[in-house]
Amino acid sequence: MSNELKSAEDRKKTAVYPGSFDPATYGHLDIITRSAKIFDKLIVAVISNPNKKPLFSISERVKILKDTVKEKNVEILSFDGLLVNFMKKKNAKIIVRGLRAVSDFEYEFQMALTNRKLHPEIETVFLTPSEKWTYISSTLVKEIASLGGNVRCFVPPIAEQMLKTKKRNSHRGHREHSEKKNKEFITL
Ligand code: COA
Repeated sequence: MSNELKSAEDRKKTAVYPGSFDPATYGHLDIITRSAKIFDKLIVAVISNPNKKPLFSISERVKILKDTVKEKNVEILSFDGLLVNFMKKKNAKIIVRGLRAVSDFEYEFQMALTNRKLHPEIETVFLTPSEKWTYISSTLVKEIASLGGNVRCFVPPIAEQMLKTKKRNSHRGHREHSEKKNKEFITL
């Protein structure tokens, strides 16, 4: 690549929107659409939160996003490890996070300052989703789906379908487990 092209490439504003996206909701997609309009390039990074036990594997979460996000300047990737290391690898200095309500603030503030301490060149910018998504979370969506509720208005069709499959498989698993237990009991 020529030096001129290289510096044009360097000047491009690349932002990273990290999250566990377990699964991505219309609230996340709202932030992606807004960010894609602001930055030259947006990388949506599916990253493990070590404090959470996910329902979907990383590749399932990436599939939901890849199937849904249509913006040309958005790339969906996954990463295992420290967010700042991923940022360095991608030569990106902007983290995008969504702020839904005051309750998000403390956690986000702590993460932004910690990431800055780990990599001083990094800035975190906060975007607010449309007010119609400020109350939803992936946990609530999973709870509704596991209890047989309709989540169509919260998640894209592929996520709705995959939540249904997870529920069917967990029922089958429970049934097989109790049949096995009953057999063990009868043979005792
Ligand atoms: N619409 C709907 N829901 C939203 C939302 C939006 N716009 N923005 C956030 N949420 C919800 C999510 O659904 C999620 O809900 P849940 O807790 O029920 O799952 C919650 O808000 C926050 O999730 P998310 O934005 O995915 O972040 P996270 O807290 O799960 O993960 C990471 C944060 C992945 C960025 C962070 O853990 C990380 O950087 N990990 C890598 C390791 C690292 O570098 N650690 C040091 C960090 S300082």
